[in-house]
This record gives sequence, structure tokens and C-alpha cells, in this order.
Amino acid sequence: GNTFTWLWALALLQGALGAAVPETDSRIRYDNYAVYKVKYESVEQRNLLEKLTEDRANVRLWHEAKDELHLMISPQSLSEFQTKVRQANASAEIFIANVQDLIDMETTENSRGTSDEFGWKRYNSLAQIEAWLDEILARYPVITEGFIVGQSYEGRTIRGIKISYKSGNPGVFIESNIHAREWITSATATWLINQFLTSEDPLVRTLAESHDWYIVPVLNVDGFVYTHEKDRMWRKTRQPSATSSCIGADPNRNYDSHWMENNGASSNPCAENYGGPQPFSEPEIKAMSEFVAGIKDKVNVMLAFHSYSQLLLSPYGHTEEELPPNYDDLMEVAKAYADAVEAMPYGTVYRYGTASGILYIASGATNDWAYNEQDIQISYTIEFRDTGHYGFILPPVHIVPNAEEALFGIAALLDKCKELG
Ligand code: ARG
Ligand code: ZN
Repeated sequence: GNTFTWLWALALLQGALGAAVPETDSRIRYDNYAVYKVKYESVEQRNLLEKLTEDRANVRLWHEAKDELHLMISPQSLSEFQTKVRQANASAEIFIANVQDLIDMETTENSRGTSDEFGWKRYNSLAQIEAWLDEILARYPVITEGFIVGQSYEGRTIRGIKISYKSGNPGVFIESNIHAREWITSATATWLINQFLTSEDPLVRTLAESHDWYIVPVLNVDGFVYTHEKDRMWRKTRQPSATSSCIGADPNRNYDSHWMENNGASSNPCAENYGGPQPFSEPEIKAMSEFVAGIKDKVNVMLAFHSYSQLLLSPYGHTEEELPPNYDDLMEVAKAYADAVEAMPYGTVYRYGTASGILYIASGATNDWAYNEQDIQISYTIEFRDTGHYGFILPPVHIVPNAEEALFGIAALLDKCKELG
């Protein structure tokens, strides 16, 4: 009688409350999570520090380079982190005190305007990007052509756009947002598409019309949606593992090119750089490889967009023992990009080199696969702004400046390619 009625009423009430809870409340929060730059010198120090990331709930890797790691630390593990840094004789410097503050600011800016309004004053969702792409394709039916790379694990269609003003142009492939949280990449890719179609600047017109562009604004569609709806800091794909409760693989370690060699990826499904159970295990990467392989004779240049740290990275990523055969050309072309960007009024500095030489050994990445397996001779990973002030949560005021840098950098890069023949 009574007990039942009460339980029933309680269940109803809970249902009503549950329904009333706004969607944002199911998002993973990063209140008082801090991000530190930790400088190290020796391999021993680095191994000690890297061990910290095994405590995945409390320590997450944001960036790794030859002499520093960027780590996001939960508030509960902060004192332990500081102790470990002292024990390793390393020095840590804070650059974000509260990750959630940055996420909240970004969310506020993203919700300005109507939900279907696309632009570069804020970051757009996948639905907004796709709706905009449809508009562009409808508006420029002769010059543009939509293409489908394939299906993601969760069944989304991975889309791209080809822009071609005339036949016989050299081809440039732009892969963007393979890492889910690197939002500046798809914002930049879409801005470039818009410039190639609408700019009246003669330099941009020449650039746009003298190349065939294949642009995939969001390759890791599942991960990207997940960063918008659940976890802003997600990097990987969303395919569950057969052997672990951790989800996803690092798509930029999943290409079938020296896969997992030289510790260039982790075999731990919980790691941010997990290579996957086998090469091309991730449907997005398998689809991308098949799509590129199908048009490789038309592709002269591969550019993989990432953030952050302002770098141009050439092959090889999988080894430090050897340099790629056209290393000198790759460096000269990268220098052209970096010089062009630095000469702009923003004065932004890009460094360049081989991926293994200036960052770390990473195998199974897009640009290495394109270079090693598809014979695409000019192939880079480009790491956009910044160098570690906002990191992945780059405020939207940076979108246009960053994209302008990419535009002029790419123009200089392609000019140099032409000059070198
Ligand atoms: N930050 C990128 C990543 O971790 C760098 C990839 C460098 N490229 C390479 N061929 N290893 O995926
Ligand atoms: Zn990346």
C-alpha cells in the first residue's frame, strides 16, 4: 500500500528531475585541473615523469617534446605531483590554473548567436560544419565536389570537399581534426575552404586556382562530437577495446606504416597514444587510407593539421636513425612556411624539423604513412597555435589569425615546392 505509493511517487519525481537536468551536466568537468610544463633533461627524469600519466584519472598528457612535458593534473593529486616532480629533480611551471574556466569561457562564446549560424568567431559543431559544407557545395557546383571518406565507428559519414578550378593541377590533401580536441584545425580548414572560394586577393586566387584541394575538415568525427558533448579533452577515436574498459585508439598512431615500431606508440589501450590492436583497426583511418590510396597519383602534398606547439614536422616520425631521402628539400620547404608566417604582422614563430628529431618517436602517423607507403614526397604534420598558454582550448579570437598564418604558410610552401620542381 503506502510504501509502494511512496516509492512510485519517488520514482516519478526522480524521472522528472532527471529530465530537467540540462545536458551540459553530463559533461566531464575539469574544475581546478591545472596544466603544467615540466622541463627535464635526462631520459631517467623523463621516464619518471611519464610514469605519472599511468594514473590516468589524475594526470593526462597534453604535449610531449624533447625537453618538456605538458601535463594536466587533477586538484586531488596536485601535491603528489609536486612531490614527484621534486623527486625527479625536474622543474614545473604552471600555465593553466583551472581548465574548466577556459572550457566555460569557450562554451559561452560558442553559444552566442543562433545555433545554425556558422562562422569563425567561435568553434562550430560537426552538424554546423556539415550544414555549411552543404551550402558551399550547392553554391559552387562547378568548382567543388563533395566526397565521402567512409564511415566512422559510430556510423557517421566522414566527409571532404574537393576544390578544383582546372584539370592538371598539383594536388594538396589536407587532413584535419584527426585528434578530437584540436578544434583549431577544423576551424582553420573551413576558413581555408572559404578563402579558396571567395577571396579576391590575387595571391589567394592564384594559390586556390593553381592547385586541386582535397580537404577533410573533421576526420575523427566520433571523437569530435564527443569533445563537444561529453569531454572537451578527448583525443582518440571512440571504438571500444576488446581487452580493456578504456575506449579508443590514437588515430595518428594507427596507420599501417612501421606500426608500433621503436616504441612509437603505446600498446596500453588506456594510453593517449595507444596504437590500436592492429594497424588500421580504426575504421576512420582504414577509410582514410583507402581514400588517399585511390587518388594518390593526384596528390603531391599531404598536410596533417594538429595543435598545438607551432611546428612543421616532416618524416620520419618512426625513427631517429635515418633521415628521409629528400630531407634537404623537406627542410627548405618547411623553412619557407615558417619564414612566411614569421614575416606576418603577428610575428608567430614556427619551428621545423623531422618529427622524431624535434618531438619524439611516433609511428603510424598520417604524414609518415603518406610519405613511406604512398610516395607522397612532401608530407608534414603542422602543429598550430599556441606554444602552451591555452593549449587545446585556444580562444576563438585566434581562429582567423591562425588560419591566415596557415594560408600564407601554405602559399609559401607550395611556391617553394614549385621552385624545387
Ligand atoms: N602531435 C602529433 C602526434 O602526437 C605529432 C605527430 C608527428 N608526426 C609524426 N610523423 N610522428 O600525433
Ligand atoms: Zn594532434
